[in-house]
Amino acid sequence: MKKIVVLVSGGGTNLQALIDAQNRGELRGGRITCVISSRADAYALTRAKKNDIPARVIPRKAYPDNAAYSQALHEALYEEYADLIVLAGFMTILDKSIIQAYRNRIINVHPSLIPSFCGDGFYGLHVHEKALAKGVKVTGATVHFVTEVCDGGPIILQKPVEVRNLDTPETLQRRVMEEAEWKILPEAVSLFCEDRLTVIDGRAYVDYQSP
Ligand code: GAR
Repeated sequence: MKKIVVLVSGGGTNLQALIDAQNRGELRGGRITCVISSRADAYALTRAKKNDIPARVIPRKAYPDNAAYSQALHEALYEEYADLIVLAGFMTILDKSIIQAYRNRIINVHPSLIPSFCGDGFYGLHVHEKALAKGVKVTGATVHFVTEVCDGGPIILQKPVEVRNLDTPETLQRRVMEEAEWKILPEAVSLFCEDRLTVIDGRAYVDYQSP
């Protein structure tokens, strides 16, 4: 059984989607063993507690820079024997020591169809503000492996979502979550835990043959 450590910073609806999938028996081959939050006030911590999942707080603001923060995070991941790290609304960029140590074992969910609306400065509601400002008619979500390039790692799954005329960033964010993020994140985690993902030359391949 692979140990899944979920990193969060906020509301934790993607964490909830993972917990719900686990409770339905849909996270085959893995178990959420720990939640780590970069903020003490993240509602995601309450979700972990309600489901008896051990949680830790490693506050980003307690560390002077990303390198020091990453070192603390790295130690915690080591102590938790993490097999898979899931970034579920985690708002801190990981430094390269963690990315190298967990190559192709860190998964991120991003609220757009990468390579649109991604990279530095594209996070949370801002992604949807920018999609609406551009006037795109379709957006969506992407689950990908994390590399040193922000939002640039091998794409595992994507799902499109329509943009409506009267959308606000908030309504669009909600639809992208409901129709895409909360579906493809648990699916990708399950595929990983069943060893059905392979990365070759920067591209991720899904094995749909296995039972
Ligand atoms: C989600 O929409 C997630 O895709 C996004 O933040 C939100 C977190 O919500 N992540 C990023 O923008 C990362 N670049 P949640 O805390 O309710 O899961």
